[in-house]
Amino acid sequence: MARTPILALHLLVALCILSSARTSSSASSDVDGFIGCLSSAIPPSLIHTPATNSYSSLLMASVRNLRYVLPGTTRALLIIAVTEPAHVQATVVCGRRHSVRIRTRSGGHDYEGLSYASVDPDQHFAVLDLGELRAISIDASRSEAWVGSGATLGELYYAAAAANQTFGFPAGNCPTVGVGGHLSGGGFGALSRKYGLSADNVIDAVVVDAEGRLLNRSTMGKDLFWAIRGGGGESFGVVLSWKVRLVAVPETVTVFSIRRLRNESAVDLITKWQAIAPALPRDLYLRVLVQNQQANFVALFLGRCGGLVDTMRGHFPDLGMTERDCQEMSWVKSTVFFFYNTADRPAEVLLDRRNANYYLKVKSDHVAEPIPRQALESIWSKWLEQPEAALIMLDPYGGRMGSIPASATPFPHRHYLYQFQFFSFWFENGTAALERRLSWVRGVYEDLTPFVSKNPRAVYVNYRDLDLGTNELEGNVTSYAKARVWGEKYFKGNFKRLAAVKRMVDPDDFFRNEQSIPPLPAAKG
Ligand code: FDA
Repeated sequence: MARTPILALHLLVALCILSSARTSSSASSDVDGFIGCLSSAIPPSLIHTPATNSYSSLLMASVRNLRYVLPGTTRALLIIAVTEPAHVQATVVCGRRHSVRIRTRSGGHDYEGLSYASVDPDQHFAVLDLGELRAISIDASRSEAWVGSGATLGELYYAAAAANQTFGFPAGNCPTVGVGGHLSGGGFGALSRKYGLSADNVIDAVVVDAEGRLLNRSTMGKDLFWAIRGGGGESFGVVLSWKVRLVAVPETVTVFSIRRLRNESAVDLITKWQAIAPALPRDLYLRVLVQNQQANFVALFLGRCGGLVDTMRGHFPDLGMTERDCQEMSWVKSTVFFFYNTADRPAEVLLDRRNANYYLKVKSDHVAEPIPRQALESIWSKWLEQPEAALIMLDPYGGRMGSIPASATPFPHRHYLYQFQFFSFWFENGTAALERRLSWVRGVYEDLTPFVSKNPRAVYVNYRDLDLGTNELEGNVTSYAKARVWGEKYFKGNFKRLAAVKRMVDPDDFFRNEQSIPPLPAAKG
């Protein structure tokens, strides 16, 4: 492709700026060499440096968490907005050759901004933006799809339903989440009690490994294929696309949203919900959202209203659900309902890739035994009445989730009753607001200690939390011993196997961030 003189000039200016950055922050990265190497394989129009006008808008296009664009955050030396697999291969090869690390970004929803930022001033990296690698092709006769990592969940849901209204896919409730990060970290959503995680429904993938090779399921081998389905893709390579199994949904599903106030029955109902929701038939997913003084019970039922009313009367009569609560619709519209809390918007909103961005801090946990009513009541009165209170989401497991062995994929938390998240988001600028929010989330997490998962505290890797710990180097690679502190919370016994895969596929630890999997040290003796 022809290079315009203006773009060439931008690259020159960038070289000057980046040369000084290099000498001040990293003695070993050869940024000039990296850019030179890239420009022989990638059109300069796809390489965005801080000197180009496009840099900021591209950076912000999929930044979800404003905490990671605050002054003091380390930004990318450049953003490479690839459009073909060869560009990714070149970026990896050039990055290794010139010691510039890469952060891969698909949808940019990482809770701790690891796909585009760092809080460590010594990190020196380029962002590989996969937003343009978002083709989706459906093989309706086989109920399968190939989907590019840069596609959003909303685009995947829309394409599946457009091919056949009885196709669905088990994945998250937020349509702008990227397929790349979501599937490589697991992927939980309203169909997971019926069909498992997104990662349980991956049947092939195309990956660029640390050598720059393009691999598929048969050439990458079973260990790497296991690791990228829940172990977090960023540690092992760059996943370009995924072949997934589309699952069967009825032409008409039913949803409801029932709110109960705290001073009515909300605490009693949540107490009961803890044991009931994970044991419901697999066709019914019933989550709870708690905010301010009310609990919102939100359901997806894979069937018609009559069946839902019968199921609810049989299993959870106390909620008082009736036919009047039912809203029947197509499955694809139910994905709109789950995000917008209304089905009034057209399914086309799923194609809107624009993010709402805000400041965000999330902590999450898992529960094995129902929390006693008294404890729920005292947490509510102590924490939820505060102005900084987060949105709390309780998501039931059970069903298919609970029937998959903990080692089948890196996601080990299958046997819990439910997971919850404290999802704190705010728009107010300034450190005072930031500190109040952080201390709310950390405080409630601390107070819940007696009632939640233990040894280790179990956290889902897609709900990234840097409070759990961050990597340290030992020599030139990430320390395995130190990483176990956070790694076993995400992966339990699977952490060691992930580290063994890392040693096999990326022994030099090129794909590295604050919580990447370290290579397992060789056994002594
Ligand atoms: P992003 O691009 O930020 O990547 C996340 C991580 O994966 C980074 O470390 C990145 O380097 C790596 N990565 C991304 N693409 C890669 C690729 N192609 N190859 C290798 N590594 C790659 N989760 C859930 O299970 N259920 C849910 O309902 C929700 N809902 C939800 C709502 C909102 C508002 C947010 C912000 C997040 C969620 N999530 C979620 C969490 C979400 O699944 C998680 O943040 C995913 O990692 C996001 O994937 P993205 O591609 O968008 O993130």
